Amino acid sequence: MIRLVDVTKRYDETLAVDGISLEVPTGEVCVLIGPSGCGKTTTLRMINRLIEPTSGLIEIDGRDIMSASPVELRRHIGYVIQSVGLFPHLTVAENVATVPRLLGWKRERTASRVRDLLSVVGLDPAEYGDKYPRHLSGGQAQRVGVARALAADPPVLLMDEPFGAVDPLTRERLQAAFERIQREMRKTVVFVTHDVDEAIRLADRIALMRAGRLEQYDAPEVILDHPASKFVHDFVGTDRAIKRLGRTRVADVMRADVEATADGTRGIDAAACAGTRFMYIVDDDGVLEGWVDCRVLAAGTPPEEAGTRVDWREAAATPDTTLKDALSRMLGLGFRDLAVVDDDGRLLGEVSLAAIEQTMSAGDVHVSNLPEGEVLGAPVADEGEATT
Ligand SMILES: Nc1ncnc2c1ncn2[C@@H]1O[C@H](COP(=O)(O)OP(=O)(O)O)[C@@H](O)[C@H]1O
Ligand SMILES: [Mg+2]
Repeated sequence: MIRLVDVTKRYDETLAVDGISLEVPTGEVCVLIGPSGCGKTTTLRMINRLIEPTSGLIEIDGRDIMSASPVELRRHIGYVIQSVGLFPHLTVAENVATVPRLLGWKRERTASRVRDLLSVVGLDPAEYGDKYPRHLSGGQAQRVGVARALAADPPVLLMDEPFGAVDPLTRERLQAAFERIQREMRKTVVFVTHDVDEAIRLADRIALMRAGRLEQYDAPEVILDHPASKFVHDFVGTDRAIKRLGRTRVADVMRADVEATADGTRGIDAAACAGTRFMYIVDDDGVLEGWVDCRVLAAGTPPEEAGTRVDWREAAATPDTTLKDALSRMLGLGFRDLAVVDDDGRLLGEVSLAAIEQTMSAGDVHVSNLPEGEVLGAPVADEGEATT
């Protein structure tokens, strides 16, 4: 557990952090969010003593962080920043091995750890291990940064806008990779972002900061449904029903019983199409290549013309995709159904707009979450209706 008690950081006239108290239970993700300059980075960097607090107490697992040397402390704390800070003259494998080497691990142990971690973050060790950072895309470099931070298996991970500098699709993938890693490794994480959707997706609890102070510290659902102040309400924004979809994954509402053929459009006719809306076309490995719209086929269009060829990277979701991202992709593509594939593009099923709509309307009434006597939907009932 990470515990901050009345922590303050003052720079001359500026109170960068003003009496913050919060606890992050072991294995949970605390997301610090708030406007630029509200003190997120300062708070984060006080936890690994890159910045010394002016006053207050910071404990990790009951131990005052001031009682260890900064170097000793940082061995137990992984740190990931936006621009990664990979060493340009070291290979990917050498970058990930930095801390194990400092700790004097044996060669084989380090090598095997590096291989494992590259796989965990979704990079093939054989392909990427010997590359230099300049040969990586932004998203790949961030993955290496995460692998490096995890190398010595630190119980605590600090992340400062780690996915802030990549395009939205890459960010989505990095978030999914982070979620998967966190499900397995259960680190105690403090994660800084200025992206509300990222916070809602990844946080066990969101710490919303304003001018160095903590405005609200609660689960994302509580922040969405019961903002503690107008500031929190306004910061989260108006499209709450849609934002809530950021808490649900495609895996929870997809159906797996879809029809697919590996024979291209050749074998597709009215008979093959009976009882399904889309006949998916996959290659011999099951990788999505496109589909035939059976309604268009039934109207007399030949199969070659009723078909759509797609790049699964752009026209499909994965089970980890949030319903919010799935919805936004559907709207962008003009589809009412979206194919679901695994990380290698193999078809797994389909998610429909109807299923997402159901989740939205179910989400509007949090009967079980509300204390007795509270008015359902208040104080944001009008917005909830406007978006459904
Ligand atoms: N080294 C410093 N000297 C003076 N003021 C600083 C310094 N670092 C940060 N600040 C100020 O402290 C406040 C919080 O900064 P920071 O923690 O970086 O905010 P955030 O990460 O939320 O954008 C800002 O007003 C910033 O200008
Ligand atoms: Mg910052």
